[in-house]
Amino acid sequence: MYTIKLYNNIAQKGLDQFTEAFEVGEHLGDEDAIVVRSANLHDLEYGKNLKAIARAGAGVNNIDLPACSERGIVVFNTPGANANAVKELVFAGLLLASRDIYHGIEWCKTQTDNPNLGKDVEKQKKKYAGNELTGKTLGVIGLGAIGIEVANLAMRFGMNVKGYDPYISVDNAWKMSKWIEHAKDLKELYKDADFVTLHLPLMDSTKNTIDREAISQMKDGVKILNFARGGLVNDDDLLEALDSGKVALYVTDFPSAKLAAHDKVIPIPHLGASTEESEENCAVKAAQEVMDYLQYGNITNS
Ligand code: MLT
Repeated sequence: MYTIKLYNNIAQKGLDQFTEAFEVGEHLGDEDAIVVRSANLHDLEYGKNLKAIARAGAGVNNIDLPACSERGIVVFNTPGANANAVKELVFAGLLLASRDIYHGIEWCKTQTDNPNLGKDVEKQKKKYAGNELTGKTLGVIGLGAIGIEVANLAMRFGMNVKGYDPYISVDNAWKMSKWIEHAKDLKELYKDADFVTLHLPLMDSTKNTIDREAISQMKDGVKILNFARGGLVNDDDLLEALDSGKVALYVTDFPSAKLAAHDKVIPIPHLGASTEESEENCAVKAAQEVMDYLQYGNITNS
């Protein structure tokens, strides 16, 4: 009998995967494996039986990877399993960034006592007018499962897409997606992008990717979207650029206290992967990875 400890609510369909050889729960003793969503496991005391940790999601920055390597604990994640959900929310973000729906809705909500609302909405049209995505350039930083999906959908919206991935050479990136233009470096991507969207994991090398210097290479009035991780952006540098108008808008799934209330920030409470479908996909894949490893020693990161 293998024991699996859960650190977050994992979709039932994932739990149903575990067959009779597994006991699954929240307060088990010396577990063989952990399935986790977003809980921070950095300060975790690892039990002596722990052999695997599966992250039901893409990012593994909530897991102490060096400690796991040292102990021989295999870490799985489920890249791709939530890519569709995140892509769809990125597009909600892009639409919010191009059309002033957000402030328009806020205004409507304050008009509940206005008997002339029908007429007054017409007067707001100019105030909340926006731009179209078609013909604009989207810079996609990071061409993993989510970045590629975002790039492909952007092209269907008639956007020009420039992609860059620090870990993929232009030649290999070209093989993954022939349809998007691959920038040779970030400078080239920043130069043309009307919108910059981040799809990188958070690591020492990617921390503060968007800092003062990066912003200085971007177009005036650029709009930045972050549905990847908060630490990819230097909040102080971004705040300065929002105040000066260099950056026109920041849409983020990782709001920080410093930026959330800013008028040019649209904060979303980390909902990128929060759909029923994506939660099920991630939980099912995480469960399968753990079972496959504990029972057969297979390492399949799907
Ligand atoms: C991810 O890393 O895939 C997301 O942050 C997942 C989540 O919201 O749990």
